[in-house]
Amino acid sequence: MTFIQSVPQHALQIIGAVGALFLLLILSAKNDRKWVAICTLIFGASCGIAYATFRDTGPFAEIAFATALLVAGIATLSLLGILFFKVILPLIGFTPPRILQDVSVAMIHLAWGIFCLQAYGVSLAGILTTSAVLTAVIGFSMQDTLGNILAGLAIQTDHSIRVGDWIKIDDINGRVVETRWRFTAVETRNWETIIIPNSVLMKNRFLVLGRRGGEPLQWRRWVWFNVDYRYEPSKVINAVTEALQKAEIQRVAKEPKPNCVMMEFAESYGRYAARYWLTDLAVDDPTDSEVRTHIYAALQRIGIPLSIPAHALFVTDDTEKHRAAKTERDREHQYQVLKGVALFHSLNEKELRQLAASLQEALFARGDIITQQGSVAHNLYILEDGLAEVVLLNDGLSKKVAELKSGDFFGEMALLTGEPRRATVLAVSPVKSYRLDKHSLQAVMNARPVIAEEISRILAQRQSELNSILHNLDEEAKAKRLASDQSDILGKIKNFFSLE
Ligand code: CMP
Repeated sequence: MTFIQSVPQHALQIIGAVGALFLLLILSAKNDRKWVAICTLIFGASCGIAYATFRDTGPFAEIAFATALLVAGIATLSLLGILFFKVILPLIGFTPPRILQDVSVAMIHLAWGIFCLQAYGVSLAGILTTSAVLTAVIGFSMQDTLGNILAGLAIQTDHSIRVGDWIKIDDINGRVVETRWRFTAVETRNWETIIIPNSVLMKNRFLVLGRRGGEPLQWRRWVWFNVDYRYEPSKVINAVTEALQKAEIQRVAKEPKPNCVMMEFAESYGRYAARYWLTDLAVDDPTDSEVRTHIYAALQRIGIPLSIPAHALFVTDDTEKHRAAKTERDREHQYQVLKGVALFHSLNEKELRQLAASLQEALFARGDIITQQGSVAHNLYILEDGLAEVVLLNDGLSKKVAELKSGDFFGEMALLTGEPRRATVLAVSPVKSYRLDKHSLQAVMNARPVIAEEISRILAQRQSELNSILHNLDEEAKAKRLASDQSDILGKIKNFFSLE
């Protein structure tokens, strides 16, 4: 008795086994449930047809029975394929490429088809050899398909493209989501899916973005900007390089460090590029945009604007009177800002106006480090708009000490005592601030040295908060140290500003 003839006798066992397989796959191969259900349905329908035609001896019934058997076998083999590739292999830690699964299952289906044909006395080899035309037609039409299958297998086995890679082919730029037997699917950032025949990938040159042997996945980006020739290139390069290297910008790699280069002497401006390494290739434009805001803020802080095209014509009524009125408005605003700062509550109007005249605007982008713990101080800052955090680095751990918002001041401890910065202040949103240097404060304090006492009280309060974190002080110990801290700080201020 042949295998095919014995199938009806074992029908119940086979149906039971496929039923059990169905349950197993529904529970374990969650991503393939739909396909499992379709295969099982086809199997059930084929069994129904086989049962109905089994006892019938007519020629039509015989063909229907054989076809049902063939289809039921294909459905069963598909389920077994899912079991093997999607359940068993992943269980032992191996996830084969999709194309390998597709091709293996297709080969097994083909083998089953040939086996069934032979069981019914049809010799495929005979048909193919006797019908040269059929062989030629099949061979010809399969040429492209076979080319794609082989190219797909080659791409997958030599790892030239892996699922998840970002590739650029022609002007298409996207992430590889899967390689099937005929094509490789690439998803772009614009939510398009590009279907690229495997043979095209095999024959053409393509770029795998951000991949370099032994290095983490990161891709160098170029952010261009122009600055007028009036400003020294070395100043621009240093300011931008330093700002980008110091800032905490999401998705910008720390190594290799970002840098800035001057790339061209253009018509009326120098053309610069900031280069950085992007760690998440899916978020390129938003990260470029973050980097641009840092470039803009870094240049603003040293008084360098981005260039305006030489042919642009600005017509403003910028008379002497107009300029004076604008300066007056700015001064008044700065005076109002200073008036609201606790540190300067002991200053009178004249002193505040004197300080207001020397305030300078300083912009920071999110992630910029405004003051770095341990560094030398040149300015104190008054935060006009935005949010910043005071972070203390202790024993390799960083701890948030305070949050600073509009109207708060910072950077006074080091500027007034001459000591290194006690903490790091980080911009957690875009920050607009005013800065004040020692020279401007010196003039005011020289005229009325008693100001130093009021200021030292505020400094001592902040100092005690830092000490309680650094030395784990309780409230009582903190209060005890406050008075001695204040006289200590006052001494330092007087000494640093050479006050009587
Ligand atoms: P400076 O040491 O110059 O630089 C870091 C700044 O963080 C410091 O001055 C203070 O302005 C600020 N800072 C430190 N501790 C506190 C705190 N407890 N509350 C608010 N700001 C603080």
